[in-house]
Amino acid sequence: MLEIKMDLLKDINPNKLPKHVAIIMDGNGRWAKQKGMRRTFGHENGTKSVKDVVETSAELGIENLTLYAFSTENWNRPKLEVQTLMKLLVSSLKKEIKTMLDNNIKLNAIGNLKTLPSKVYKELFDVIDATKDNNKMTLTLALSYGSREELLNTVKEISIKVKNNIISPEKIDESIINEHLYTQNLPDVDLLIRTSGEKRISNFLLWQIAYAELYFTDTLWPDFTKQHLYKAIIEYQKRERRFGKTSEQLS
Ligand code: IPE
Ligand code: IPE
Ligand code: MG
Repeated sequence: MLEIKMDLLKDINPNKLPKHVAIIMDGNGRWAKQKGMRRTFGHENGTKSVKDVVETSAELGIENLTLYAFSTENWNRPKLEVQTLMKLLVSSLKKEIKTMLDNNIKLNAIGNLKTLPSKVYKELFDVIDATKDNNKMTLTLALSYGSREELLNTVKEISIKVKNNIISPEKIDESIINEHLYTQNLPDVDLLIRTSGEKRISNFLLWQIAYAELYFTDTLWPDFTKQHLYKAIIEYQKRERRFGKTSEQLS
């Protein structure tokens, strides 16, 4: 576990914040295993990191935070683990509605939400509804989310509109694709963080991360704190985002 004792907040430039931070929260199972505990103990402890990162992001002034909480592939995990994750989601939503209201955070969700158990679906939309007028930060939970599924869905929806003469094929451009993605109202991802040392994307926001800065850390998700988030943002602020141009063109 990487311990950060200093307060790194002073090293962050408030004028150069990423507008959209996305996080692949990984390593709960390994964290628990290291402690000789069941995987679900890791998921329970991961919720503390979620709260910490959500509050810190809002405090900093990050406008969009997207958290990968459950992938389409995660349905293939043991039934008991899936059940525990769904239960944790319901209890966290119930508990954290206050955090969202206190911090002016609007909840949003992306993914194939119809496949969620009805209890989760109901709680999710209760909180989305209760926070819909909040405007400091949009917190998006990716639930039963898979980027390929999202793109497939987009292709189908656009095809139907073409068939019904609502869109002409020549008019299809990036903005039309953006409007049909689950992330329709969100800007592109600026900073993508993955914890636990894995260096892969695991079917997360493939279209939206086209020009994101990638940040990988060995820290396991339940150990990830506010200071780890500061560290990722400081690293992001040191990068030169060229978008295909030369360094000279930017200066
Ligand atoms: C991330 O931790 C949480 C979810 C995917 C829901 P993992 O459960 O993947 O933990 P590891 O990767 O097995 O350690
Ligand atoms: C990605 O983590 C999904 C979430 C964090 C929700 P996984 O642990 O499921 O990813 P893989 O299977 O190791 O790529
Ligand atoms: Mg994992």
